[in-house]
Amino acid sequence: METTKKRLVVLTGAGMSAESGISTFRDSNGLWENYRVEDVATPEGFARNPEMVLDFYNQRRRELQHAQPNAGHIGLAELEAKYDVRIITQNVDNLHERAGSTHVIHLHGELMKYCSVANLEKAYDIDPAHLDMHLGDLAPDGKQQRPFIVWFGEAVPMIEPAIREVEACDIFVIIGTSLNVYPAAGLLNYVRRGQPIYLIDPKEVQTYRGDVEQLMCGASEGVRRLKEILA
Ligand code: APR
Repeated sequence: METTKKRLVVLTGAGMSAESGISTFRDSNGLWENYRVEDVATPEGFARNPEMVLDFYNQRRRELQHAQPNAGHIGLAELEAKYDVRIITQNVDNLHERAGSTHVIHLHGELMKYCSVANLEKAYDIDPAHLDMHLGDLAPDGKQQRPFIVWFGEAVPMIEPAIREVEACDIFVIIGTSLNVYPAAGLLNYVRRGQPIYLIDPKEVQTYRGDVEQLMCGASEGVRRLKEILA
């Protein structure tokens, strides 16, 4: 007899992909130590110096091409055998999908997609054989292409479906995010009281909730321990 699987909702951030060799943002030597957010992650920065912004994301895309999903990504995909796993990620990489996760919501966009400067909602796949985006590359509407990335100050359309997932969860897990950026960080407020919440991060993360069990370790080790706890 088929039993309904419990819904396991996982919010991930840059720390999820750190063991795959992708830099986090706010750790020492993180991306925001080497670049100014306002230069490469705002619409104003793109208007000022589009070439520099396109180049920043071209570099991120090349870095991603050489990265592989780590044991944490793979462990989350394996949990689908027993749980109805829903991933909500702030990451723009595709490592959850490449590990085999089938339900992934990207809050902050996707590195392997582009959109038109005139329509930020419609995304197109980037051909892996032509990773770089340049000034003059046009979207199907004839307008300049831009990375399909949600920059600071822009709307986060995927937050609504993400909230619905969190409200419906039986178990909530947070992995590798400093919870500095809203509205993603606010998702924790939608977990119903009484549902177990686990947080996997090698550093202590402030959550303002007393019912969060923190596993102080990296993503791979944390997912391994989570599987033991849920077994
Ligand atoms: N495993 C798990 N967590 C780790 C690991 C690891 N191996 N290494 C580092 N971390 C943790 C750090 O301790 C930190 O708490 O990952 C977290 C990374 O935090 P941030 O760099 O702030 O990244 P994130 O929370 O994803 O940033 C949110 O900010 O700039 C924007 O749009 C960008 O989506 C990003 C958003």
